[in-house]
Amino acid sequence: TRRHAVALIPGDGIGPEVIDASLEVLEKAASLHGFALDMTRFDWSCDRYLATGRMMPEDGIDQLRPHAAILLGAVGWPARVPDSVSLHGLLLPIRKSFDQFANMRPHRLLPGATGPLKSEAFDILCIRENTEGEYSGAGGRIHVGTPAEVAVETSIFTRRGVERILRFGFEQARRRSGRLASVTKSNAQKYSMVFWDEVTEEVAADYPDVTVSRYHIDAIAARMVMAPETLDVVVASNLFGDILTDLGAAIQGGLGFAPSANINPDRSQPSMFEPVHGSAPDIAGRGIANPVATLWSAALMLDHLGEEAAGRSLLAALSAVTAEGRLRTPDQGGQSRTTDVARAVADRLS
Ligand code: NAD
Ligand code: IPM
Ligand code: MN
Repeated sequence: TRRHAVALIPGDGIGPEVIDASLEVLEKAASLHGFALDMTRFDWSCDRYLATGRMMPEDGIDQLRPHAAILLGAVGWPARVPDSVSLHGLLLPIRKSFDQFANMRPHRLLPGATGPLKSEAFDILCIRENTEGEYSGAGGRIHVGTPAEVAVETSIFTRRGVERILRFGFEQARRRSGRLASVTKSNAQKYSMVFWDEVTEEVAADYPDVTVSRYHIDAIAARMVMAPETLDVVVASNLFGDILTDLGAAIQGGLGFAPSANINPDRSQPSMFEPVHGSAPDIAGRGIANPVATLWSAALMLDHLGEEAAGRSLLAALSAVTAEGRLRTPDQGGQSRTTDVARAVADRLS
């Protein structure tokens, strides 16, 4: 049988709840489709930080490296550990160390799901740059705590980084509708974003079959709500992509629906799959988190592992459960539990 090594990082809050719910579904998908998932669980989290002073061990990245993929729940528990510590100690270094530069976040309504928009006609693939830009971590503070305090956070955009995310976007656009939207704020940010516009134009020359539109981040945010059907592949920087994809999650019915794939197309390093949402401390520990985003992320992981048939059948089972509409977690106005939804998806798998 085919075997795939998968690292599980359940993390904090609802992270372990949605990951545990997905395991039963993944095991069943694997056995039905004739492969095995060798899963290793890592307890890296804020609890671990409070116990050991580290979110993950010093050699954490090396421990993950041999896996074909990573499935992550969520990281962060701001009441106990500052987000700047927990995220920079676990999630962000994984994306960066494995050069998972393309964060793919599809936004569309699953059957039966309802979002806040009048029109349900949209199918957007947001491609977020995932390793540099506003998340570079370059900066500092001086005169801390005094009236003269200054804080600087520098965005770093490299030609290599900008070019590869745009090329990745153009390749995806070619496979979809042939339309690409490039997102900047080049009316206000005159270095990085003007540079991004120039690189967009250069790369576009290699893809004459793709129609390119350029939008400012503010305008495309409004467009995603007012006219989402005019958008297909959307390529954005790290921070702009982060913001747009919570908006995308909202229009697809809420944070419980939005999946993501942190991809390094060079398969010598693991890619990571995780819901767009966070650890949701406000509902954690009650078994009521919506597992759909994580199950969809797991389907994206199966695709990435080359198990496309299993990925398709997982997404089909998930769609069948949402279409039926009988099982809804409280965020969807229902009373179902995380495990009820996951079990129904497992039962639907064929
Ligand atoms: P959040 O996404 O955790 O929660 C926002 C709101 O959405 C909350 O009301 C929450 O209850 C709801 N929600 C989110 N996922 C849900 C689900 N599956 N089912 C039902 N409701 C859901 O965002 P936040 O509150 O800003 O962040 C909480 C913590 O998570 C912070 O530490 C933050 O830094 C972290 N975070 C981590 C990730 C990640 O690990 N990828 C992503 C986002 C936020
Ligand atoms: C996401 C999250 C993270 C991000 C945070 C928790 C650092 O919001 O995956 O969207 O901004 O990338
Ligand atoms: Mn986010």
